[in-house]
Amino acid sequence: IDIKSLRAATKGIITLDSGYKNTGSCESAITFLDGEKGILRYRGYSIEELAEKADFLEVAYLLIFGELPTGNQLEKFHSDIKIHSVVDEDVKKILDAFPKSAHPMGVLSSLTSALTAFNPTSVNVDSEEDMYNAIVRLLGKLPILVAWAMRKKQGLPLDYGDNSLGYVENLLKMMFSRPNSCYVQNPILVNALDKLLILHADHEQNCSTSTVRITGSSHAGLFVSVSAGISALWGPLHGGANQAVLEMLEAIKEDGGDTKKYMAKAKDKADPFRLMGFGHRVYKNFDPRAKIIKVAADEVLGDLGVEDPILDIAKGLEKEALTDKYFVDRKLYPNVDFYSGIIYRAMGIPTEMFTVMFALGRLPGWIAQWREMRLRKEPIGRPRQLYIGEKERAFMPIDKR
Ligand code: ACO
Repeated sequence: IDIKSLRAATKGIITLDSGYKNTGSCESAITFLDGEKGILRYRGYSIEELAEKADFLEVAYLLIFGELPTGNQLEKFHSDIKIHSVVDEDVKKILDAFPKSAHPMGVLSSLTSALTAFNPTSVNVDSEEDMYNAIVRLLGKLPILVAWAMRKKQGLPLDYGDNSLGYVENLLKMMFSRPNSCYVQNPILVNALDKLLILHADHEQNCSTSTVRITGSSHAGLFVSVSAGISALWGPLHGGANQAVLEMLEAIKEDGGDTKKYMAKAKDKADPFRLMGFGHRVYKNFDPRAKIIKVAADEVLGDLGVEDPILDIAKGLEKEALTDKYFVDRKLYPNVDFYSGIIYRAMGIPTEMFTVMFALGRLPGWIAQWREMRLRKEPIGRPRQLYIGEKERAFMPIDKR
């Protein structure tokens, strides 16, 4: 399509598509998604194969730069990230100013934005080299902020981790190490978290990714664009759903565990309640990530020997929804968030941190989409509207209103 001629021919005509359900906002070579067939591929590689054979940093490299790294490329990438795995001590003062009750997503978004002040060279990225430097900085610093957001809530001293460890191992150490005790890695948890992060790493033009692209399209820097994406992810209809799922399961348990009652509520159009973790804007048959994560959840819970009544409620809801006419007719299947919270809980991650974990997983995708948008020199994002307000009116002085 010659988009310029199309625009000229349709001058003045605006397409209204609330929620952008059928509007493409860009051309992208990063992630392929077929919602009907349940296919998800990063740069052409199936999510199933990547989750099984690659690790998170390899997938991050693939998403951002377009190819799987060679051994040397991966080593350099990791080493460049490690060099920047440090946060200015003054950032701690900002963290200190938050009340302990602050939601860690708010803390993460604010601190990610604040990082710009301490890394001003990350803003004006005119060359690929500048971009690379901003990218490895953010990949190095975000896990520290994630761990700090959790430790702040728990009243624990902050930790910079151990750069001799792998990316995910280091994250776990920064989150779970305790003063005066030696932190021992559990390979089951490392593997499960690695897989979860891979499954969340990109999902084409979803709400938070579109936010990152549109923020970055004004040539705002990478860190603030990602901070805007973190804020968008926070909502319960998007990334916040993993926290909402667990809270819903807890509420059902407290209320006697009657899943049928909550199924009925979800179907009642007069009741705003929705079954959290069910349904997806794009996947209308199944969410391929949910399939992988369900197996991972069973493995982790089995390996850790976790028995959890919450899990029984989740399984009950899933079973009922899969045969319920309302859910089947509307193609509402469990999505990735339905199971991720169950794994996070088994790992000992507090519920309010679930969406923060999602944010870290999505970071490579946000970066890749931002980089693609900048390299393609896309114009500033600026949708139009259909105006439905008052016609022209004469100004009324205040004493006459
Ligand atoms: N429970 C009950 N009914 C639902 C649910 C649900 N979870 N989801 C959708 N429906 C119903 C709607 O009421 C609507 O019914 P109607 O046709 O009778 O009016 C129909 O299914 C279509 O729903 P929409 O809201 O139009 O679908 P949309 O694509 O806009 O929304 C969304 C998708 C936001 C994911 C929705 O399914 C939802 O709210 N799910 C719960 C929240 C959730 O799990 N979000 C995580 C998404 S995955 C992610 O972000 C990583």
